[in-house]
Formats: sequence, structure tokens, C-alpha cells
Amino acid sequence: MKEPTSIRTKESASVMKKDFIEWSDSLSIGVKEIDDQHKGLAAMVNEMSEGIKGGWGKEARDEVLTRLVEYTKVHFATEESLMTISNYPGAHNHKRQHEQLIDMVGSYIKKYNEDPSASNYDLLFFLKRWLVEHIMKDDKALGDHLVKHGTIKPEHRETLFGRIKKLFGFGNKSFGAAAKA
Ligand SMILES: [Fe+2]
Ligand SMILES: [Fe+2]
Repeated sequence: MKEPTSIRTKESASVMKKDFIEWSDSLSIGVKEIDDQHKGLAAMVNEMSEGIKGGWGKEARDEVLTRLVEYTKVHFATEESLMTISNYPGAHNHKRQHEQLIDMVGSYIKKYNEDPSASNYDLLFFLKRWLVEHIMKDDKALGDHLVKHGTIKPEHRETLFGRIKKLFGFGNKSFGAAAKA
């Protein structure tokens, strides 16, 4: 997956405007494809931040939020497939957190549909906090498990994900579209 263009490295960030979520190695869970998906999610939250600051309209907001929800579901399905094939003991709690995030975002979207003038900043800050905390704690634990139990080996990463993508029909199109930001 192509790295989202709005994710900047630490070096370039010093001379450019800061992203709302800045990617750094501390957010890496050690599994490339998952890291790439997390970068895609961060890029969309950054796109949302720019949109809000620019006073975006309902149409632009709906488009970004729809794309964010679709991509988040693909991402969660990827992680949950890995949990299943590796018999991950923390799968139940981890999946519950995924479900809660989808429910929360759904509630915000419902609120915005009922009141289009409602501020979007509460969702923006909620997404940043949730994403960073979930990656640092839950996704890192999953990454450690995958490496420790041999589900992911550096030389097999691409092959394994290729198989999962084929099995669950995750086309490159979805992954590419998510990194559009
Ligand atoms: Fe997760
Ligand atoms: Fe994740």
C-alpha cells in the first residue's frame, strides 16, 4: 500500500505545518501492512482536521466520514482475520473495542445528520485519542502476539496478507482509495 501523502516523516515535519496526528515509529506495531493501514486512518483523520479548519460543508464531511468508516471496517476485518488464524487470546476484548468505535462514530454521524451545524471537533479529538491509545496498547499487543507465535515472519508478511486479501476480497482498490488523502 502506498504511504499516504499527508503522513510526514519527523524530518520533513520540522519545516512543514504539523499534522493533527503525526506518524512516528512509536506508533508502529511491527507488522507492515497493519502499520500502512494505520497510516491511512491517520491520514483520513488529518484530512478531517484540515476540512474542519477550512470550514467544510456537509457534503465534504459526509464523503470523508463515509470513506473513514468503510476503511476502518476493512482495517478491523484484517486485524480480526489475523486474530482468528493465530488463535489470539485477546480477540474477544479487542473485537469489542472495534465494535464500540464503529458504534461511537455512527452516533456522531447520526448527531450531525440531525444537527448539521453541530461542531465536528468532538469527533475529531475522540478519533485521535481512540486511534493512538488503541494502536499503542491493543494493536501492539496483537502485533507482538503475531510475531511471537510465528503468524507473521518478516519474509512472509506480503504472502500472508496477499492470501488474506484474496480470501476476504480486500482488493487493492479499497486500500489505495483510503490512502487518497
Ligand atoms: Fe485493533
Ligand atoms: Fe488497528
